Order: sequence, then structure tokens, then C-alpha cells
Amino acid sequence: MPDRNDALRLLEEWVKNEGLKKHMFAVEAAVRHYAGLRGGDPDVWGLAGLLHDLDWEKHPERHPLEAVDYLRSQGYPEEVLHAILAHRSDFTGVEPVSDLDKVLVACDELSGFVVAACLVRPNGVDDLEPKSVVKKLKDKTFAAGVSREEVERGVALIGIERAEHIKNIIEALRAAGIELGITAKDLAR
Ligand SMILES: [Fe+2]
Ligand SMILES: [Fe+2]
Repeated sequence: MPDRNDALRLLEEWVKNEGLKKHMFAVEAAVRHYAGLRGGDPDVWGLAGLLHDLDWEKHPERHPLEAVDYLRSQGYPEEVLHAILAHRSDFTGVEPVSDLDKVLVACDELSGFVVAACLVRPNGVDDLEPKSVVKKLKDKTFAAGVSREEVERGVALIGIERAEHIKNIIEALRAAGIELGITAKDLAR
């Protein structure tokens, strides 16, 4: 099975946009964290998070079919491919079924939102609390590109309270904080 280094090489090759890269790292961190909570293999789950938007820049019209075709040819696990297909079920017709499928949907929209919330605070992720994210979700002008409907759909899919899901994502991003440039130290620069 290809490992994280193989996946990182693909990321470098296919994705030039730094913001998109960061999004993929954030989702990776969140999905890995959930693997720990839900008995998944963090290395396998992490690949789904890291690669879910691999072809978004190169082939937006076919996203994520192009990536899945390629990843299949490289021997990536079907579990990972299914999750990547299911994160765009409206386009692929593949519905989220497994825990990993559902977690990926739930983390996709919200991880980016939490990163955006970190970037407008002096201490970033360090002292971010779920209630401040909830408040920002209610403010429709903040990170307006993030679909609140998708966020709610994700929360419903994984069957936990929204605040708990936000808390889990914050913990995951805190652990990956330096890599994402969202800690107080990064933001002071
Ligand atoms: Fe996507
Ligand atoms: Fe995404």
C-alpha cells in the first residue's frame, strides 16, 4: 500500500495552490484524529483526508473521478477511494456508507472553517473554543463560501453534537498547528 510519503509526492505534483494544500492537510489531521476515536487505521484514514481534493485544481470538471482513477492504478486501498468518491456524492452518486466516508464529509467543510476562524485570532488555534466557532457559523458574512448546510449534513452523518464535532476538529488542528500555520507563534510573525 502506498504510504504518506507517496501521497505527499502526488500532492506536490498535482496541487500548486497553497490554500488548497493547507485545506488538504487540515482535513487529513481531522480525519486521522477521528480514526483514533472510531477504531479506524489512522494511516489509511489519513490518506483519504490528504488526497480527497487531489484533482480539484487540474480537473475541476471531473473532481474527484480523475484522482480516483489514478489512485486506483497506484494501488491505493478501495476504502480510501470510496471515501473520496463519497465526499462528492452529488456528482459521483456514491453515497457515504462507511465510518470513514461519513467522517470525511463531516471534516471537509468544517476543518476549513475552523482554520479560517484561527486566522482571525491573535492566538490562532491555541486558545480557540468551540463556542467561538459556533458563533462564527451563525455569522453568515464570515467565511461565506463555507456552506452551513454541508456543515449540518456532516454533523448529522456522524451522529454527534455539533459542538463535540467542533471540539474534535480543534483538537486535531491543534496537534497539527505548526504545519498549518495557525498557532499564536505563527500568527505573530
Ligand atoms: Fe472536494
Ligand atoms: Fe475538500
